[in-house]
Amino acid sequence: MKKTIFVSQRIPQAAIDILEQAGFDVEVNPEDRVLTAEELITSCRGKDGLLCLLTDTIDKNFIDQTPGLKGIANMAVGYDNIDLQAAARKGIPVSNTPGVLTEATADLAWALLMAASRRLPEAERYLRAGKFTGWGPMLFMGGDLNGRILGIVGAGRIGTAIGPRAGGFGMKIIYTDPDRNKALEEETGARRVELDTLLEESDFITLHVLLTEKTRHLIGRRELRRMKRTAYLINTSRGPVVNEEALVEAIQSKEIAGAGLDVFEKEPHIHPGLLSLPNVVLLPHIGSATIETRTRMATMAADNLTAMMKGEQPPNQVN
Ligand code: DGY
Repeated sequence: MKKTIFVSQRIPQAAIDILEQAGFDVEVNPEDRVLTAEELITSCRGKDGLLCLLTDTIDKNFIDQTPGLKGIANMAVGYDNIDLQAAARKGIPVSNTPGVLTEATADLAWALLMAASRRLPEAERYLRAGKFTGWGPMLFMGGDLNGRILGIVGAGRIGTAIGPRAGGFGMKIIYTDPDRNKALEEETGARRVELDTLLEESDFITLHVLLTEKTRHLIGRRELRRMKRTAYLINTSRGPVVNEEALVEAIQSKEIAGAGLDVFEKEPHIHPGLLSLPNVVLLPHIGSATIETRTRMATMAADNLTAMMKGEQPPNQVN
């Protein structure tokens, strides 16, 4: 009998082709929205495999209610949306999509850093509002990058990929990570420091950690207070790594200069305080959103799921 797959939202067709060519019956959520927990359970009952997204909550309840599932492929490098232990207890492998989104996400972190430091969204809003009456010697002055210090929190794949970008702009790099990253040090002259030192010395801080119980609110009131008043915080990892309430307070009270955020604590809800701050650049979680990258993520998830359906170990199993 044909194995049945549920895909929780429309994804690049190349991935659907892989699943169909492997001989599976593929059903794609026809709605252009995230399904509710109940809808997702109903759609997955009786299915063999699930290709899901970071917006799907795959918790113990979901796992208990979908006993037929033999594999879950998350189309994301992060997998904080999935209860890995609950899946493992039922013998369900879970996979992610590492590596393929490294460059796109590092690019976006860099775009946020530049947009925040040179005040690009503010300046563009001003121009579109018809307020540009000519070049001005004091108009939208930002800050230089050359010679400034970039602090990378989490020197995994994406954090490491930030290094050459910063080097290209003449920045000095410090980083914090439980493990020494020799490649980053050798390629860019980066120096490994404790988080507190990084907070105190950096002009820009960019976050590249997985969301775990250890990293939830890694950046809170105490950490923001240690940052320079002229520093910017960039987050393309996961929203809950930052205490958003504390961030709003820190920017409102000018404890830090601003932020560039692609992810939010209660996504897609955006803290109203952030919306009212002109010196915060806000993006709708598009770190990996290039056609090439999203296609690679989707096909990688499909390859993982195909392996699982054949009873093989998927190449990117995380549990
Ligand atoms: C991920 O993969 O975890 C990103 O947040 C979305 O691409």
